Amino acid sequence: MPLSELTDRFGRTVNYVRLSVTDRCDFRCVYCMAEEMTFLPRAKILSLEEIARVARSFVSLGTEKIRLTGGEPLVRKGILDLVREIGHYGLRDFAMTTNGSHLPEMAEELRKGGLHRLNISLDSLDPEKFHAVTRTGKLPQVLEGIEAARDAGFRNIKLNTVVMKGRNDEEIPDLIEFARARQLDITFIEEMPLGEISEHDRGLALCTSEEVRSIIRQHHDLEHTGDDTGGPARYYRMPGSDIRVGFISPHSHNFCATCNRVRVTVEGRLLLCLGNEHSVDLLGVLRAHPDNDEVLRETIIKAMDLKPERHHFSSNGDVEILRFMNMTGG
Ligand code: 5AD
Ligand code: SF4
Repeated sequence: MPLSELTDRFGRTVNYVRLSVTDRCDFRCVYCMAEEMTFLPRAKILSLEEIARVARSFVSLGTEKIRLTGGEPLVRKGILDLVREIGHYGLRDFAMTTNGSHLPEMAEELRKGGLHRLNISLDSLDPEKFHAVTRTGKLPQVLEGIEAARDAGFRNIKLNTVVMKGRNDEEIPDLIEFARARQLDITFIEEMPLGEISEHDRGLALCTSEEVRSIIRQHHDLEHTGDDTGGPARYYRMPGSDIRVGFISPHSHNFCATCNRVRVTVEGRLLLCLGNEHSVDLLGVLRAHPDNDEVLRETIIKAMDLKPERHHFSSNGDVEILRFMNMTGG
């Protein structure tokens, strides 16, 4: 097995792939989607078998880490079969990002199917505010999902919170206590300008990671750990707790130099960067060569040349990327 055959023009090794398995979701989070969304018709999305072929090809090129994303991955029919399939590939790390609403009934099967880790979105602990942010989500269901994930034996469960001024910034201390009490890591994310929304002004709602840290520091010391793992998050620890507090700060911290990841959308577009439009069509290749993954592998290797050096997001809320996050694969 090669270490990784995927290297880009800037010497970065790509060994981490995020696969979006659906653009659909049972929530409509205000930062992620418009209220009315049109979703892709079935013919335009990869089948589960095609997603598995993409996953296998990346693994054969040295990928060690796969994350399934969406939309909401757990609303895709047959998702457990896909998890079981990828669960056999011997990955170093196999993870999923979910909104948690389907974990009460699915957490145990996911764990048994070979999934290692879960990131669960949690923006509020107040049922009304939670409903306002997700538009359709019910907090008790998600809290139950978090408990189900813990009971199923998932280690290193991580909560993800997108912080918005005037919306959930006052809940930061409560979210920290919630995470500490349950030994869950938590990452606070600055909202990114992906997809045009009219629901709020992203420029005004931006709560920077620096602001979040100063709110936490009113309650706990925070120490930078330095064990940042090539990903965008910077991690901190607090006295009296083992949990890690992460910050993803696309506006203030440029993490592009160590970027090790690419994404594949459910339409089969290989995206080389979250903040750029560069992409390569894999769906056409998959369907033109149904019995052989050689061309698919060559296409993936060549695509690395398109990985841009860095992204640029402005902080005034202007949209530079027209894709919504549900199309990008959170
Ligand atoms: N900015 C930042 N994070 C976002 N997410 C979705 N849309 C955005 C955005 N515009 C993240 C949320 C969610 C995950 C699926 O994607 O953290 O937890
Ligand atoms: Fe669904 Fe996640 Fe987007 Fe919310 S952020 S609408 S849970 S895909």
